[in-house]
Amino acid sequence: MSEVPEYLNRRRVLKALVAGAVGGTVGTLAATKLVHASSEVASSVTAKLPQLPKTPKNISPEMLAKDESFWAQVALNYDKVQGIVNLEHGYWGKMSKQVQEVFIAKTEMVNTQLSVYGRRHFKDDLAHSTNRAAQALGAENEEVVLTRNATESIHNLMRQYNNFEVNDTVLFADIDYPSFKDTMRWLAKTQNVEPVEVILPAQTNQSEILDIYVKAFDKHPNLKLMLLTHVSNQHGLILPVADIAKAAKMRGIDVICDCAQSWGLLDFTIADLNVDWAGFNLHKWIGSPVGVGALYMKKGSLEKISPYPGEIDPNNTLVNKRVHTATSNFASILTVPAAIDFHESIGPANKEARLRYLRNLWVEEAKKLPNIEVLGGEDDASSTGMGAFRIKGKVSLDDAKMLQQRLENEFNVFTVVRVGLASGCCIRVTPQIFISAEEIKQLILALKSL
Ligand SMILES: Cc1ncc(COP(=O)(O)O)c(C=O)c1O
Repeated sequence: MSEVPEYLNRRRVLKALVAGAVGGTVGTLAATKLVHASSEVASSVTAKLPQLPKTPKNISPEMLAKDESFWAQVALNYDKVQGIVNLEHGYWGKMSKQVQEVFIAKTEMVNTQLSVYGRRHFKDDLAHSTNRAAQALGAENEEVVLTRNATESIHNLMRQYNNFEVNDTVLFADIDYPSFKDTMRWLAKTQNVEPVEVILPAQTNQSEILDIYVKAFDKHPNLKLMLLTHVSNQHGLILPVADIAKAAKMRGIDVICDCAQSWGLLDFTIADLNVDWAGFNLHKWIGSPVGVGALYMKKGSLEKISPYPGEIDPNNTLVNKRVHTATSNFASILTVPAAIDFHESIGPANKEARLRYLRNLWVEEAKKLPNIEVLGGEDDASSTGMGAFRIKGKVSLDDAKMLQQRLENEFNVFTVVRVGLASGCCIRVTPQIFISAEEIKQLILALKSL
């Protein structure tokens, strides 16, 4: 495991630096230099922030996952609210203290320098952040463009898809993100094509999932475009994306892959997915500030996704012409390299293993309880640190809301209701890497009392 980069371990003294940068000298050579220096933020930051613990040598991620003292040290790098066990970290992630420091410094810098920074230097810094994201994904720089969130990335792919013909079909699944299912239904209506929804069992595994998709492909020979989710937001189920995408490609079906919940929760690179188009965010499991997503489009695959309305790309080679984000949070984008550095310093495989371990702690207990139904992956290959459950037979929205309230009010455990599964509503449980095994015990206690 690499150590945290030096600039992540120091506190900013940027205020003074930036204040001097613009105070009346804009346009001079001195100001130019200062503006540039401050856009590299934080190499001069000094006060103490927690250090990441060194990873013990020769220890597997699975073994390290059980080392509470190691993860307690990791947790020191995060500000944590006291008084409630928060097991709802699927909404958005958390910046480490170091990343937050960089974000604050960048915010101050941008807010001080405004257009002087924006017009002179942002383009280069945006390219730097984009390239860092591409590198971490294992993609080429030209294959990635930063967006504001996964929704922007996926919506643009859906709306700008230009290859429909009469009688075509589009496909999505009950485990997909509810808002994207709605967008697929809207797409079908506006493009005058047929929508098909695949239903997955409440508990399932990799081979069963693949089988269901392949049967759907064979049943709908006019299938042209499908939404495929890497990790379901409802219960953390992993889909065998590469295998499904292979079967789809063989039949000429185009795949839009939703990786909003997977990047950083799982350790993978884009090549592992075997898809041409994917949408990500960095504000969930990568730990960037809120407001950063990414769109991946494999080189040579751009033709069927038109440029964003008004953009021009005659040779279909420019991914950045597929979005037009306009003014967005500069500081969030500038903090991307720091967030990825921090994520990688802990180690993507270590994070994945720790989160799985925390899930298994409560799932193993829950499975012994006759009144609890655990949802999602039946096997390790199909499950992540994110999981879900409900009281057997209680599948309505009201049932799920009541259960969420009981967990919160009687047991001080914060979770969230998820809707959209064909089998009914559920409670999603999503620990983060700063959650301890002790905190998971609080959920187990609650489950045993329900
Ligand atoms: C599976 C899935 N897809 C898409 C999204 C949307 O992500 P974003 O908020 O970054 O647009 C989410 C957010 O929770 C999600 O869980």
